[in-house]
Amino acid sequence: MKILVNGALDAVFLATVRDEGGCDASILLNYRRSERRALASKTLRGFRVIDDIKAELERKCPRTVSCSDILTAAARDATILAGGPFWEVPFGRKDGRITIAAEAERVPQGRENVTALIDYFKHLGLDVLDLVALSGAHTIGRAACHSFNDRLYNFNRTRKPDPNLKPPFLNLLRRQCKKDMDLVFLDATTPKMFDTAYFKNLQKKLGLLTTDQALQSDERTSSFVDLMGNQPFLFESQFSASMVKLGNVGVLVRKNEGEIRVNCNFINRRRK
Ligand code: HEM
Repeated sequence: MKILVNGALDAVFLATVRDEGGCDASILLNYRRSERRALASKTLRGFRVIDDIKAELERKCPRTVSCSDILTAAARDATILAGGPFWEVPFGRKDGRITIAAEAERVPQGRENVTALIDYFKHLGLDVLDLVALSGAHTIGRAACHSFNDRLYNFNRTRKPDPNLKPPFLNLLRRQCKKDMDLVFLDATTPKMFDTAYFKNLQKKLGLLTTDQALQSDERTSSFVDLMGNQPFLFESQFSASMVKLGNVGVLVRKNEGEIRVNCNFINRRRK
C-alpha cells in the first residue's frame, strides 16, 4: 500500500498534465513510445496495484469504472492512509486512447525555475496557490538522485554545490547518493507522514529538489510556503481543493469521448 501512496499521487500528477488528453489515464498505457515508457516516468511505481483494483472491478461490474477514475480515487484514498485530508472525487471520467512519450517529458522534472513552474501550472488552469499547495505532496515519497545531483556537485554549471545547501545536509545527500538511481526522501524529517513538515523544511533550507527550495526563495511563492508551513488546516483544505482542480484537468466525460478500458495497460480492441 505504501507504494500506492507515492505511486498514485505521482501518477495522478503525470496522468493529469498531458497536453491534450488531461486526466485520462494515458500514463497507464503500456506500449512502446507511451508516456509510461518515457524517461521521465522511469521511476513511477504502483501500476500493479491499479491493475489489481481494475481486475477486481471488471470481475464485479465489467466496463463500468474507468482507469482514470480508479487512479483519481486511489490518489485520494492513499493520501488519507498517509494521514492527509479527504476530498470529494467526482466520477465519470473516460480513458484516453492516445499516449505520446514526448508529452511526459514536458512535465516539470525538478530543475525548473519558479517562472517555468507557474507557467506550466497556468497552462493546466492552476494558479500559484495551487502550485505551492500541490507541491506539498512532496511531504511523502522519494526522488532518485539524478533528479537533484547537480545541486551536490555542479550547480548551474559552477562546478560547486548549490550555495543554498547547508554543509550537513549537503554531506548527508552526498552519502545517500552513491548512484543516480538511489532514492532519497523528499521530506527529510517526516517522510512517511502527510503533514506540513515539507514546508517547514523549506524554511530551514532542507528542500530536496531545486524546484522545492525555489518556492521558498521566490517572492511570488514564499508567503504561501510560510502560510502552509504554519497552518496545517490551511494546507490540508487548500491541498484538497487543488487536488479536485488537478483531477478535473481535461477530463473526458462526453458520450463520444474516450472509453472505459477493460485493461488499464491497453486501449480496447475496436469491435468490428
Ligand atoms: C511543482 C512541480 C513538481 C515537480 C517539479 C515535481 C518533481 C518531482 C520529482 C523530480 C520527483 C522524483 C521522481 C523520481 O526521481 O522518482 C517527484 C516525486 C514525487 N512527486 Fe512531484 N513534482 C511536482 C509536483 C507534484 C504534484 C502536483 C504531485 C501530486 C499532487 C507530486 C507528487 C509526487 C510524489 C508523491 C512523489 C514521490 C514519488 C515516489 O516516491 O515514488 N508532485 N516529483
